[in-house]
Amino acid sequence: MSKVLVVYCSLSGNTKAAAEAIAAGAKGAGAQVTLKTGTEAQPQDLLECDAVALGSYDAFSYMGGGLKDFLDRAFYPTQGQVADKPYAAFVTHGGGGKAGQSIESLAKTFKLKKIAPAVLITGKPEGQAITDLKELGAKLAAAAAK
Ligand SMILES: Cc1cc2nc3c(=O)[nH]c(=O)nc-3n(C[C@H](O)[C@H](O)[C@H](O)COP(=O)(O)O)c2cc1C
Repeated sequence: MSKVLVVYCSLSGNTKAAAEAIAAGAKGAGAQVTLKTGTEAQPQDLLECDAVALGSYDAFSYMGGGLKDFLDRAFYPTQGQVADKPYAAFVTHGGGGKAGQSIESLAKTFKLKKIAPAVLITGKPEGQAITDLKELGAKLAAAAAK
């Protein structure tokens, strides 16, 4: 079974809800899903997965500290071992959303392969946003299975 890792950080629950919707979409598409916060996730999680979703709230137009902590800790232990691994970014924000660019910029440094545009959500994900996030999870599951 292909493995999808969802790593996120969330202060007030919006990004957590987004991460859970991605996880549900990936599970529904047949993947085995690991859902962790940035502070829980370990470099090994990134090495072991077949595709990864990286999510954060927008914090001053950058990703939140929890996701940055994970990426900082994971960089050297995974260097050269995650090139072309499929990934997608997701962000909840208060009207900005530039944090998506910071995630995509670091993903490039890891040489991960972007499989879909970042999903940007204003506030708490509901309605169409949940549908979009579930679809992103399904896309990650499909990419993980290749
Ligand atoms: C310290 C801090 C800085 C923020 N900076 C931005 C920002 O620059 N742009 C923006 O659109 N939203 C900003 N926000 C709003 C959050 O990104 C938004 O409310 C998000 O959905 C919160 O996600 P969470 O519930 O997962 O913590 C900021 C929130 C906090 C707490």
